[in-house]
Amino acid sequence: MNHVKSICDMIPLNNGYQIPCVGFGTYKVPAAEARASVSSAIQAGYRHIDTAAYYQNEAEVGQAIRESGLPRESFFLTSKVWNTDRGYDRTRTAFEQSVRLLGTDYLDLYLIHWPANYYQFGEQAKDLNAETWRALEDLYREGRIRAIGLSNFLPHHIDALLERAKVKPMVDQVELHPGWLQRSVLRYCRDHGIVVEAWSPLGRNAVLTHPVITAAAEKYQRTAAQICIRWVLQHGAIPLPKSVTPERIRSNTELFDFVLTDEDMERLDALANIGGQCARPDDVTF
Ligand code: A2P
Repeated sequence: MNHVKSICDMIPLNNGYQIPCVGFGTYKVPAAEARASVSSAIQAGYRHIDTAAYYQNEAEVGQAIRESGLPRESFFLTSKVWNTDRGYDRTRTAFEQSVRLLGTDYLDLYLIHWPANYYQFGEQAKDLNAETWRALEDLYREGRIRAIGLSNFLPHHIDALLERAKVKPMVDQVELHPGWLQRSVLRYCRDHGIVVEAWSPLGRNAVLTHPVITAAAEKYQRTAAQICIRWVLQHGAIPLPKSVTPERIRSNTELFDFVLTDEDMERLDALANIGGQCARPDDVTF
């Protein structure tokens, strides 16, 4: 995504719907702070906001969007169905709850938050994911969601889903930062026309203070966070940086007046397990 010039530049999804190339992440933004931080994000220019039922801040996110005075259509709003609501009926109910809390009647993007995995569900995992996906497909066909997708799905989970899917996922949101380069996910999604979104693009504190990152920050005269977010963009993915700090929220959007060289990208690519969650969707027990 070397061609994008602002956080609101649009990327086409495989159904033709457009998504802004950077979003504002709201995981771990407590409800009490969500309204203020989303308002700061909107002031800083973000129009793409990423939340989830699990984050328990949908009502406050919706409030900040309404209070901006901007029309709903100027926002790209994502939420996700949580793991306890898998299956056709429960997913539909969860969707209605999310849009009610957000105070909107449609979502731009709705994701399955985590795949049901074999470790927890054995042979039933595949059926459960298929049924959750069927609910998203119906909501999509009914016009309640503009685009549907996945989160934390690895290529083998997507392959299994595609066996029965009628609508191809448009997005897969995965953990992606220097220190957790998911090459196989990036390659698979590129080959299948699925846009990758990066959760935790800053990989939390250990990544931001790693000497290779701080050396790059020094070289480009940028913050460590800007280096990480730019790295995500140059891998063709949509970063979703989170912050509750207005100055950081703003500086995390200043990404378009420098380009990491191929050599520096490789240097950052070579970091592994230096921080962040490094979540393994096949092993999680939630
Ligand atoms: P805060 O919200 O207090 O500003 P990730 O999404 O990768 O998990 O990273 C989120 C963490 O990174 C939060 O703790 C957030 O802190 C911090 N953060 C966000 N932007 C910056 C920045 N520009 N510099 C340093 N830390 C940042």
